[in-house]
Amino acid sequence: MQHRHRNRFSYIYIGGNLDFRIDGYMIITVTSYKGGVGKTTTAIHLAAYLQRLAPTLLVDGDAIRSATKWSKRGGDTGLPFKVVTHAQMVNHIRDFTHIIIDTEGNPTDDDFRDLAENCDLLVIPAVPESVATDGLIHTLAKLRSLGNKAHRVLLTMVPPKPRTEGQQLRDVLNSEGIPVFASKIPRLAAFEKAAAEGVPVYAVKDDRNAARAWDAYEAAAKEVVHG
Ligand SMILES: Nc1ncnc2c1ncn2[C@@H]1O[C@H](COP(=O)(O)OP(=O)(O)OP(=O)(O)O)[C@@H](O)[C@H]1O
Ligand SMILES: [Mg+2]
Repeated sequence: MQHRHRNRFSYIYIGGNLDFRIDGYMIITVTSYKGGVGKTTTAIHLAAYLQRLAPTLLVDGDAIRSATKWSKRGGDTGLPFKVVTHAQMVNHIRDFTHIIIDTEGNPTDDDFRDLAENCDLLVIPAVPESVATDGLIHTLAKLRSLGNKAHRVLLTMVPPKPRTEGQQLRDVLNSEGIPVFASKIPRLAAFEKAAAEGVPVYAVKDDRNAARAWDAYEAAAKEVVHG
C-alpha cells in the first residue's frame, strides 16, 4: 500500500525540517497515547476537508467503531465520504486518493512505530491539560523516538482565553523540537453535537460556534495539504 503512494510524493526540506507536499495520494493516520483526545473527531474532519479535494476514504481502525457509528447516525446525507473497517480497506483503497485512518488510543511502542512507518503523516491529537504530567513525559519520549518520520501534534479541545494551557503545551513541544500544527482546535460543544447528529461540524445548525469549529479543522487540514 505504501509503495503505491510513495512515488507520488515529494519530500522537501524547509527551514531544516523535513516537510512534505501532496503531489497525489496521501495516507494520514491519527493516533495518540491517551484515549478521548479527539482522534475520531480529527479523522472525521480531516476527511471532510480532503474529500473536497479528491475522493477520500476514512478507515475505522478502532474496535469500538466510533467513526462507523458517526457515519451511520448521519445516514445517507451525514458524512460526505465513505467509512470502512480496516478489514474492508483492501477492497476500497484503489478507488480513493486520500486515506485517513482512525485508530484506537494507547498503541504499544511497536504499533506506534509501525503506524508511523506506514503512513505519510502521523497526526497526534493532544489535549492541553496540566502540562507537568507523567503522561506527557511518556508521550514526549515516544514522539522523540519518531525522529524524522512525518508526524505532527494537533492541540485539541483547547480551552478559551484567559486559560493558557494550550500555549503552555505548545511551548513544551516547541522546546522539544516536536512538530506542532500552527492551528489549534478549540473546545466547543458543537463537536459533540456533530458526533451526535452524525455530521461534520459545519452541518450543525443550532450552534453559533459551528462555523468557528469547522474553520479550525479546515485550517489544520490546509496545513496538511500545503505544508
Ligand atoms: N474540540 C472539541 N471540543 C469539545 N469536545 C470535543 C472536541 N473534540 C472532541 N470532542 C468530544 O470529546 C469526546 C472524545 O472525542 P473523540 O471521540 O474524537 O476522541 P478519541 O480520541 O477518538 O477517543 P477514543 O480514544 O475513545 O477513540 C467526544 O465526546 C467528542 O465529541
Ligand atoms: Mg476514537
